Amino acid sequence: MAKISIVGGGVIGLSIAYECAIRGHDITVIEAFECGGQASGAAAGMLAPYSEIEEDPDDFFRLCQKSLQLYPEWQKAIKQVSKMDFEYNESGSLYCIYHEADRLSLETKQSWQKDFGVESYILSGDEVREKEPELSKEIVAALWCPEESHIYAPDYVKALLQACRNLGVRVIERAGEANLVNRTVVTDQHQIEADINVICTGAWSMKWEEKLGFSLPVYPIRGQICAYDGPKLNHIIFTSQGYLVGKGNGSLVAGASEDIAGFDTNVTAHGVGRLEKWSKKVIPGLIGKAPFHRWAGLRPATQDGFPLIGRIAKNPEVILATGHYRNGILLSPITAKIVADEIEGEPQMVSIDRFRPNRF
Ligand code: GLY
Repeated sequence: MAKISIVGGGVIGLSIAYECAIRGHDITVIEAFECGGQASGAAAGMLAPYSEIEEDPDDFFRLCQKSLQLYPEWQKAIKQVSKMDFEYNESGSLYCIYHEADRLSLETKQSWQKDFGVESYILSGDEVREKEPELSKEIVAALWCPEESHIYAPDYVKALLQACRNLGVRVIERAGEANLVNRTVVTDQHQIEADINVICTGAWSMKWEEKLGFSLPVYPIRGQICAYDGPKLNHIIFTSQGYLVGKGNGSLVAGASEDIAGFDTNVTAHGVGRLEKWSKKVIPGLIGKAPFHRWAGLRPATQDGFPLIGRIAKNPEVILATGHYRNGILLSPITAKIVADEIEGEPQMVSIDRFRPNRF
């Protein structure tokens, strides 16, 4: 049994804590503010790598695909251990286009994803509206990916936290800034010595650059989101400009901007205004309606777009798991398993060479 400290109580830190606790390790989570209080609780909760990844397949695509495949069992186990429920909806998605000229991009994506066993179908505009009658008549076709899903992120994170607590994980919230002195996490009020320290501080990870002594280019990218009171959608809807996802509580979430605003989590008239304009183009029934809620989260972006997962070369008792950018919720199960396997010296489920923290 290893003594493990995890700095950061977002979805990544809590997932690692859960997986390591299930495997019998002794875990402490240290969170500067409140667990799930940042990007994890603000996320739209899409588990949609096939729609979100445009480029050719690479290790990142494989990582995302594996994590999506882990979700059915993972979420069931979190519900059982936490004794809490949260929405997990295997809704499928429709990636919609407005111009025939864009059909080639759908076909190209479908063709390379097929080689990875991804199920998808190109539907005509009429077929799309048969599935989703609220969608605009201007949509000419869509790529339907039945395997994509979504989750209600705020409830998922609460359940993860409860599951950790039920497994005996010590959770220290409102700890303020943490430092690492040899193997000890030091805060104003606490000193926690561990065999392994895992850093999962999301958009706030760059401050470890100096503390750990190597280049750690993780930047906050603000995502502004808004929610309408309906209409109900059966699938996640994507276009090249954003996504719409209908939640079980009746809200319709529209996301999301990508702006550089430091650590500012305010929404702006421009950011949400663009989403409002766009969502009315996708669902004409929203014309004349205003969102009832607007909010923002900070995604942890890295210089090359890939997360940082693994041991630090010069200090192998420290593991980094951060920089998940748009995919923190999706990648939470696989990241947890990678870190737990790394700690236990077990073989990895997927190649993680591309995600080594010391690569910059
Ligand atoms: N994955 C959705 C977003 O980051 O907005």
